[in-house]
Amino acid sequence: MTPGVQPLIAGNWKMHGTLAEAKALAGAVAAGAGAGAGAGAGLLVAPPFPFLPAVAAALAGSPVALGAQDCHAAPKGAHTGDVAAAMLREVGATHVILGHSERRADHGETDAVVQAKAAAAMAAGLIPIVCVGESEAQRLAGEAEAVVRGQLAGSLPPAFAAASGIIAYEPVWAIGTGRTPTEADIAAIHAALRAVAGPATRLLYGGSVKPGNAKEILALPNVDGALVGGASLVAADFLAIAAAVRPGG
Ligand code: PGA
Repeated sequence: MTPGVQPLIAGNWKMHGTLAEAKALAGAVAAGAGAGAGAGAGLLVAPPFPFLPAVAAALAGSPVALGAQDCHAAPKGAHTGDVAAAMLREVGATHVILGHSERRADHGETDAVVQAKAAAAMAAGLIPIVCVGESEAQRLAGEAEAVVRGQLAGSLPPAFAAASGIIAYEPVWAIGTGRTPTEADIAAIHAALRAVAGPATRLLYGGSVKPGNAKEILALPNVDGALVGGASLVAADFLAIAAAVRPGG
């Protein structure tokens, strides 16, 4: 944790669930938050696009924020299948995840594309959550920090910190695998992120965060929360991760 920075526990639902499941999950997270789970942290869920309005309704009146998983770099236009940042705002999103490694891999998103998307998100009044992280080969070659520094340099638009932009460090090899870097490795990368991002930017760790490892990870210096995939699909697990936040710790 970083003194003075409010932690954030964000759930990335990816391409999972039915509409009924999304509503039920959002309702359970909202109820847990209302009951004080993770009171020291902000909570956010990022459902698939079609479920955003229903999830917004399920979260209404709760402190849980709504995020999307991508947006286009253009404000509007002939971009079949894409979604503009302003559209996400209109259905209640306040945040958008950008440059997730699955999008970088599945859709060939480069740092330049991510930077343009983040600028578009900020222009529409959304807070971007920009993801960076090395592959396993890069980690084994000792290149993790250099890779992440390069991604940051290429992916963050000007005024990112001033717009409350959030950075998520997600080593590709830790996503959905049950494997995590050592605490020392997470702390080292987050120290590098901090040097680039400035003192007030929230720095999330993502990649196989679970109730069983959240406390240790969230206690590391410069780790201001988590971006949670698999464990965010089970309300009790997601809330348990939020409850592992120790404010000011
Ligand atoms: P995971 O995914 O928690 O399932 O590893 C994290 C992410 O991809 O954001």
